[in-house]
Amino acid sequence: MRFSLAIFLLTSVACTFAQIFQIGAPAPGAKLKAGKPFVIQVEQPNSLGPIEPISVAIGLQRCGSSPCSNDSDDGILGQILFAGNFQPQRHEVFLPPYQNYTVTLNDTQSGFGTLHVTGFFLIGAGPSPQIATRNVSVTIKGEN
Ligand SMILES: *[C@@H]1O[C@H](CO)[C@@H](O)[C@H](O)[C@H]1NC(C)=O
Ligand SMILES: *[C@@H]1O[C@H](CO)[C@@H](O)[C@H](O)[C@H]1NC(C)=O
Ligand SMILES: *[C@@H]1O[C@H](CO)[C@@H](O)[C@H](O)[C@H]1NC(C)=O
Ligand SMILES: *[C@@H]1O[C@H](CO)[C@@H](O)[C@H](O)[C@H]1NC(C)=O
Repeated sequence: MRFSLAIFLLTSVACTFAQIFQIGAPAPGAKLKAGKPFVIQVEQPNSLGPIEPISVAIGLQRCGSSPCSNDSDDGILGQILFAGNFQPQRHEVFLPPYQNYTVTLNDTQSGFGTLHVTGFFLIGAGPSPQIATRNVSVTIKGEN
């Protein structure tokens, strides 16, 4: 009984955790043009339990002429484009609360890349710390 309750709790934490946040923009496969500011939109959908967003680190991994590997084990963030507070707000009724981070690349070479967003959250009444990472693959259009 106690065991199945533990499993249930673990599962519901995992489910809550799964939708803890998402990358609203750029879209997968987006072309990022060097010198042109673009928005990384980090969304936090409404969740079942209390989740307090604390911070994010956004990194761009560059992979040159071939797409980045999907092996998440390496945990690489690449060049840090932003690291700091994450305080999502509701702006549009049809979108979950989000925060926009505007960055500009100054790459000279074109190539494949992956944007990684790692978020730090406090979850539940405890609360307990949680870290989650999302990614989106992009292509970089260099200035040359
Ligand atoms: C990695 O996965 C994303 C979707 O999750 C896909 O768009 C991309 O093409 C994949 N990359 C490789 C190298 O398989
Ligand atoms: C990127 O996210 C996809 C799921 O959206 C996952 O399958 C893949 O392992 C992740 N890749 C990295 C490098 O974290
Ligand atoms: C966030 O960025 C998106 C995409 O550029 C834009 O449509 C939206 O208006 C921005 N929201 C705010 C509050 O600046
Ligand atoms: C832009 O270029 C400078 C070096 O000229 C580098 O230090 C910086 O990290 C670059 N910024 C981005 C966002 O690529």
